[in-house]
Amino acid sequence: VDADPPVAGFRPVAPDESVRANRAWWDAEADDYLAEHGAELAAGLVWGPEGLDEASAGLLGDVTGRDVLEVGAGAAQCARWVARRGGRVVACDLSAQMLRHARRDHAGAADLGATPDGAATRGAVLVQCDARALPFAAGSFDVAFSAYGAVPFVADPRRVFAEVARVLRPGGRWVFSVTHPIRWVFPDDPGPAGLTVGFSYFDRTPYVEADAGRIRYAEHHRTLGDRVRDLVATGFVLDDVVEPEWPADLGRAWGGWSPQRGRLIPGTAIFVTHLGPPTPP
Ligand SMILES: C[S@@+](CC[C@H](N)C(=O)[O-])C[C@H]1O[C@@H](n2cnc3c(N)ncnc32)[C@H](O)[C@@H]1O
Repeated sequence: VDADPPVAGFRPVAPDESVRANRAWWDAEADDYLAEHGAELAAGLVWGPEGLDEASAGLLGDVTGRDVLEVGAGAAQCARWVARRGGRVVACDLSAQMLRHARRDHAGAADLGATPDGAATRGAVLVQCDARALPFAAGSFDVAFSAYGAVPFVADPRRVFAEVARVLRPGGRWVFSVTHPIRWVFPDDPGPAGLTVGFSYFDRTPYVEADAGRIRYAEHHRTLGDRVRDLVATGFVLDDVVEPEWPADLGRAWGGWSPQRGRLIPGTAIFVTHLGPPTPP
């Protein structure tokens, strides 16, 4: 990566540098990101650009009365869906500006604060933190989930998984969506150029954007096998990998995700896991 002008490319990034860059990036980009995608995200708990929602997917199980953690929640649209379903939910994110949006949306959500049967809930609690160091006591949650939050943006996802394992109760679910690993081999282009293999699936060098030599954004690739090994190493049992298909009637693109590519290659992988029994020392 050259120092100047701003460039996008691939180069190693230290874990803390990656988090520092991404915090500043999401703070700076939150308004534009939510202006573009906020209305669609507000619809519920959406797992990715294909529009698969939790109401139909049912990957978290019944959240009513459960303690639920959303990791990398952004403006916490998913957490609000959980709260509406009667879950006691904490939404955490690295970016203060994303959480500012969450607070604003929260205050304006007329339907927040009651379960479908009318019982009162306390809505979502918002917490700013790095997902690699969750400020919660061990065994605080029944369910943890993330829709494209935190996991793709850290160089050391095992730290996130280990933290999630720590704060979950025995048997607790951990469900998260990320860019499907196969997408790494294709240029991030929604059109035909995005259908020609351009990169090695096995090259884990992060994608970065830099300005005057300073990393402004970093995204990290893990192969499918890497993800499974990271999960198993941190005590999780893999129950399913959901690869949502692009709906035939979905005409819009979302960044590099598009109907043209969606017909041919998966864009999202959702890892459905639960905490296994502790391994003997
Ligand atoms: C694509 S958004 C996902 C949130 C929401 N589901 C959405 O689609 O807007 C990614 C979020 O991950 C957060 N994030 C990135 N790195 C993180 C980290 N290390 N810890 C916690 N959150 C992080 C960002 O601040 C951002 O809000």
